[in-house]
Amino acid sequence: MDNTKKLLKDYYHVDITSMSSQQGGWASLAYKVSSNQKSYFLKVYEKKRASTAKLTALIDKYVPIMVWLVHNSKLKGKIPVPLVTRGGEYKCEDEHGIYMIYDYIEGYTIGDQDVTEDQVRQLSEIIAELHLYSEDIPVETDGIKEDFDVPFLQSLRDIWNQRRCNFPNDVWNLVSPHIQQMEDLMHTIETLGQRLRNSNVRMALCHTDLHGWNLMQSEQQLIVIDWEGLKVAPVEADLMFLIDKPFFQEFLNIYQKTHHNFSINPDALQFYQGKRKLEDIWEFLEQLLWDEQNEEERVSTLNHLQEELKTLGK
Ligand SMILES: Nc1ncnc2c1ncn2[C@@H]1O[C@H](COP(=O)(O)OP(=O)(O)O)[C@@H](O)[C@H]1O
Ligand SMILES: [Mg+2]
Repeated sequence: MDNTKKLLKDYYHVDITSMSSQQGGWASLAYKVSSNQKSYFLKVYEKKRASTAKLTALIDKYVPIMVWLVHNSKLKGKIPVPLVTRGGEYKCEDEHGIYMIYDYIEGYTIGDQDVTEDQVRQLSEIIAELHLYSEDIPVETDGIKEDFDVPFLQSLRDIWNQRRCNFPNDVWNLVSPHIQQMEDLMHTIETLGQRLRNSNVRMALCHTDLHGWNLMQSEQQLIVIDWEGLKVAPVEADLMFLIDKPFFQEFLNIYQKTHHNFSINPDALQFYQGKRKLEDIWEFLEQLLWDEQNEEERVSTLNHLQEELKTLGK
């Protein structure tokens, strides 16, 4: 705690008196830290993790857009923005990690629970509002614009083409029966990507990671958190998370009050669904091959990978 205490004091003028570990997502560590006045949510991206560079590279691109949204759209109070350091930055770092702090949201995370009618309505209103904005807002959006390029596909191919000498047997045995399926899906994604790049599909601000662990309920308000995937993209990048849900029609009815003639673009939907599947597989492999994991974490990642590989044929 001493390190963190000093860091928060130096960068944010916040004097913390307590700190407790919280269940974070898989990408970062999370803490509740409190001063005598209030509580904060501290997110720590450890530098030793393979995913950190990619996840934190865009902080300075997406946070200013969120700040603009909070001041210029109906999203105030519905999305969290990080606190600013004394130097006017949205993050700070030391040799161990990259740190961001937010006001602590008192409430609960939806996670795997069913959502209520009211939550569906609020979610639909938030996403409909978000999708009203695009690259014409007066904040730079170039760094987060979808280009339909999927760079991790090459890395994924390299993995089995080179079969790196340190490829562990258990991982290889799991992956190798599915390589053809993955090759086929990669080819489909690349073809769709090319088609979308040459089309004039409408793009809007999208969250791109809309699942229950990124939704919190605080008193009467639903809050959408974890905006590190913010993009200017076809709206299917968000709707793909909702389309298979039992409440999708209800969601769509409310969404269409704002976006009157909206209909799903099947190419964009298929592109994002396939990309997500391959990205999950890639990230699990990345953890298994390059991250330091204990036995329990490793078994859990292997199970997740196996589950994901099974869905490839579907
Ligand atoms: N401001 C906050 N206040 C309280 N809890 C939060 C806050 N932000 C996130 N959380 C909790 O921490 C978890 C992980 O945060 P999230 O931003 O989604 O990180 P990750 O990128 O690791 O998924 C969330 O599922 C939620 O339970
Ligand atoms: Mg999350």
